[in-house]
Amino acid sequence: MPIIHQTGAQEQRQTDNRAGLSTLLVERLSFSYRDGFQALKEVSLQIAPGEKVALVGPNGAGKSTLMLHLNGLLQGNGVIEIAGLPVVKENLPVIRGKVGMVFQNPDDQLFSPTVFEDVAFGPLHMGLPEAEIRQQVTQALSQVGMGGFEDRLSHHLSLGQKKRVAIATVLSMNPEILALDEPSAGLDPRARWSLINLLRELPLTMLVSSHDMLMVRELFPRIIIMDEGRVAADGETAVLLADAALLETHGLERP
Ligand SMILES: Nc1ncnc2c1ncn2[C@@H]1O[C@H](COP(=O)(O)OP(=O)(O)OP(=O)(O)O)[C@@H](O)[C@H]1O
Ligand SMILES: [Mg+2]
Repeated sequence: MPIIHQTGAQEQRQTDNRAGLSTLLVERLSFSYRDGFQALKEVSLQIAPGEKVALVGPNGAGKSTLMLHLNGLLQGNGVIEIAGLPVVKENLPVIRGKVGMVFQNPDDQLFSPTVFEDVAFGPLHMGLPEAEIRQQVTQALSQVGMGGFEDRLSHHLSLGQKKRVAIATVLSMNPEILALDEPSAGLDPRARWSLINLLRELPLTMLVSSHDMLMVRELFPRIIIMDEGRVAADGETAVLLADAALLETHGLERP
């Protein structure tokens, strides 16, 4: 992946797009919240199948706003495609099966009484047989180190436990793409490292927003920097992290 600062490589992106090479395509996406605040300004990016990309940038850059567009929870102006499928109303049921979205705040994700019911929610709505649902739930909880928590009350868990269960709620659906909004925030060191190892091993396409630059360096070969609603830089992690001026401009720390 070549480094792309601001502009450039547009032609290459369009060629890749026509060749159907991207799993996630966002083109000139702009979005304003109801109060008129423009949170996204002509955001374009492409992610190839299996690619793991970190989304970084200061508070208020628009990272969460962008994520919420990927499965149609917000709708702006521009084009978004998941595996060639436009993110429009009639495709949302299929798209929500493909994109596992983990929100920044786990309280937005967990709404069932028990951990089991939260993690079983997706597979249940996909119509899987009960034995398969149980197996998916067990596997997803064990992947996030929360095996044995099935009967606990979701809203009584600690923040880090909630984050882990929130990730399990999407893993249980076997998504093709993971869109994780600050997955390591609030995790203790052991949980953080097991999350890093889990994400490293999962052979899925990922877009992961994070302020955890150590995790970014460890896990993601490519970084997209957002600032003030725009893509400010998009390129190889090693190259961007070596650019002290770029990091300083966008309020980022070198890990
Ligand atoms: N519901 C809303 N109504 C109006 N403005 C909003 C709303 N939600 C977010 N914003 C604004 O949109 C901008 C982008 O917010 P967003 O949450 O996408 O940033 P972020 O990059 O995810 O930040 P953080 O690192 O703090 O998670 C911010 O200026 C924020 O104040
Ligand atoms: Mg955010």
